[in-house]
Amino acid sequence: MSAAFDDWMKTVQAGSENDLSAFLPAADVIPAKLHEAMRYALLGGGKRVRPLLVYAAGTLFGADANTLSRAAAAVEMIHAYSLVHDDMPCMDDDELRRGKPTVHVAYDEATALLVGDALQSQAFVVLSEADGVPPARVLAMLRLLGTASGSAGMCGGQAIDLDSVGISLTLAQLEQMHQLKTGALLRASVVLGALAGKDLTEQELSALNVYARAIGLAFQVVDDVLDATADSATLGKTAGKDAADNKPTYVSILGLEPSRALAEQLRLEAHAALEPFGDKALRLRELADLIVQRKA
Ligand code: IPE
Ligand code: IPE
Ligand code: MG
Ligand code: MG
Ligand code: MG
Repeated sequence: MSAAFDDWMKTVQAGSENDLSAFLPAADVIPAKLHEAMRYALLGGGKRVRPLLVYAAGTLFGADANTLSRAAAAVEMIHAYSLVHDDMPCMDDDELRRGKPTVHVAYDEATALLVGDALQSQAFVVLSEADGVPPARVLAMLRLLGTASGSAGMCGGQAIDLDSVGISLTLAQLEQMHQLKTGALLRASVVLGALAGKDLTEQELSALNVYARAIGLAFQVVDDVLDATADSATLGKTAGKDAADNKPTYVSILGLEPSRALAEQLRLEAHAALEPFGDKALRLRELADLIVQRKA
C-alpha cells in the first residue's frame, strides 16, 4: 500500500468521522440516551470501508462533494445499524464490536433496537438532502440504498445467515448469502460514489458492478478467514464466533487455503473490471487490495 494511498485513506476516514458526527443529533438532545447510543454505535471506530469506496468511485467522474459526503455517511449509517442488530442476542449475540462493548451490552436491548432503527432512518434523511446533483438522481440513489439494505440486500442475507445455522450450504448458496448480507452494501457504496458524479451509461454500470461484486464477495470471504485465524484484540470483535455458532462460512465449506485463494482470485477480477477506467480507478484498485490483504 503506497504512502499516498495511506494519506488519502486517513483523510477520507477523518472527513467521514466529522460528517457522521455532524449528521447526527448531539448527545444531549432529547431523547438523550438514544442519541448518545447512536453516537456510541457510529463514531470513533470502524475501518470506514464503505465511505472509502464511495469516495474512490467518486474520483472516477468528478463527483459533487456535498453528494459524496452525504452518500458516504448514509451508507456507513446503514452499515453501523446492521452491526448493532447483528450483535443483538436474537442474532449473533456478540459482546464486542469495534473494540468496545456492543450497544445492547453498554445500554440495553431496546436501546440497541432503536439505535439501529434510527440510524437507518437518518441515513435516508441525510442522503435525501444531497443538493449538488439533479433531484431525479438523488431519488435513484435513495432507491439504490433502500434496495441494497432491505430484503433483496443486507436484511435478506442476514435472514439466510440465521436460517443456515448448523446446516451445510452449497457453494452457490453460500455465495448468494455473502453477496446479499455484505456484498449488497459494498456494491451500493461503489455505485453511489459514481452516481455522485454523473448518470452512468450501461457499460460504466456493468463494469462497476463486476468490480463491486468481486470485492463485495471478497470482503466477506476475508471476514470469514479472519474470524477463524485472527484474535479478538486485533479484530475488535469476538474471534472464532462462526465455528462456535456453527455458521456455514467459506472457511467451513471450502477450507482456509482455498478461501484465501478465492479472495486473491476475486482481487484480480476486480482489477480487471476497472481496466476501462484507466488511471482514474487507482483508488478503487488499491481498495480491492486492502479488502483482500487486510488483517482486521
Ligand atoms: C463487519 O464489517 C461486518 C461485515 C459486513 C463483514 P466491517 O469489517 O466493515 O466492520 P467495521 O465497519 O470496520 O467495524
Ligand atoms: C454480518 O456478518 C454482516 C452484517 C452485519 C450485515 P457477520 O456476522 O459475519 O459480521 P461480524 O463478523 O459479526 O462483524
Ligand atoms: Mg452475523
Ligand atoms: Mg456477527
Ligand atoms: Mg463475521
